[in-house]
Amino acid sequence: MIDRNSLARVALVGVLSALSSAAFADGTTPAAASASSVSAAAAPAKKPFTPPAESTMPTDGFGQSAKLGEQIFTHTAQFAGKYVGNTLNCASCHLDAGRKADSSPLWGAYPLYPAYRAKNGHVNSFAERLQGCFQYSMNGNAPPLGDPVLVALESYAYWLAKGAPIGTKLAGQGYPKLPAPAQKTDYARGGAIYAQHCALCHGADGQGQSSGGATVFPPLWGAHSFNWGAGMGDIQNAAGFIKANMPLGLGGTLTDQEAWDVATFMDSHERPQDPRFVGSVAATRAKFHDTPLSMYGQKVNGRVLGAP
Ligand code: HEC
Ligand code: HEC
Repeated sequence: MIDRNSLARVALVGVLSALSSAAFADGTTPAAASASSVSAAAAPAKKPFTPPAESTMPTDGFGQSAKLGEQIFTHTAQFAGKYVGNTLNCASCHLDAGRKADSSPLWGAYPLYPAYRAKNGHVNSFAERLQGCFQYSMNGNAPPLGDPVLVALESYAYWLAKGAPIGTKLAGQGYPKLPAPAQKTDYARGGAIYAQHCALCHGADGQGQSSGGATVFPPLWGAHSFNWGAGMGDIQNAAGFIKANMPLGLGGTLTDQEAWDVATFMDSHERPQDPRFVGSVAATRAKFHDTPLSMYGQKVNGRVLGAP
């Protein structure tokens, strides 16, 4: 389906690739550059799983539920508004409606549950895993187990994983895990990369862009983005996502170091409070963010991040 938004995106991607090709004075293209700086993200060892084609989605009761799940995934506020507290969609971070390899695709996730999660200290059903993304990534409320929203999302993920082996980590599952950066990550370097490669779409102020009330380019920080409890607030997750998928349409063109630096820059900005807040930023950091991969509770530009 081509709509105004996709056209706006295609146009911008075109502009951007033109700009970055021009920037390579030696005549190499961004694609050639990424092939020489080979990364695990750009060259997965195994061919990723191929989910069923959209045209094969059944039209029976199950198919209708899967279809609703897809709509919730791509237009989350419209179809599951009471559980959403920001302007993101599930598909803002799980690209191509949850199909894209290295973008935590639903077909990679579904076969791995039930699974133990250190985040909440117990074995999670797939539905519980979905609840977590509403609470943190969508800065909203978890739909209760059995809620039609969760049922529809489960149907959609189950359908996308049709034919995938159960209990096996497939190539392309999750976001790629980048090795530790060669140089200590740097906010200022990250800011320069942001201005050059990201601001065109996400805005100089990180607030994204919308058109007619619909999010075209999602906000990366601030009141309308994911909250401090979200997985994308972990710099390693963010760096892996960015390396494989951003700038949109040019995944794999940043170096690992650039991805780490720009992820650090992004995650060094204010965003909604961690819903697990225990009364003080220091105590919340000690309990949930006690890692160099979280900027929560750290001082940046003279301000403690997460301070109410
Ligand atoms: C801001 C980005 C973001 C948004 C928006 C988002 N997610 Fe996620 N999602 C993540 C990250 C990051 C992870 C991995 C977290 C981790 O490993 O700690 C994840 C993990 C998942 C997983 C588990 C993947 C696996 O392989 O185990 C599922 C399922 C999922 N998300 C579903 C959803 C659904 C459904 C929505 C919308 C209601 C959503 N996500 C919205 C970032 C996002
Ligand atoms: C050509 C436009 C474009 C450029 C340039 C771009 N992005 Fe994105 N970005 C998008 C779109 C669109 C999405 C949402 C995906 C979707 O809706 O299909 C997105 C999603 C994201 C997300 C997950 C959603 C969120 O709001 O947190 C992050 C993080 C992100 N981009 C970071 C970056 C970074 C960092 C750069 C620069 C290295 C960058 N992007 C460059 C268009 C762009």
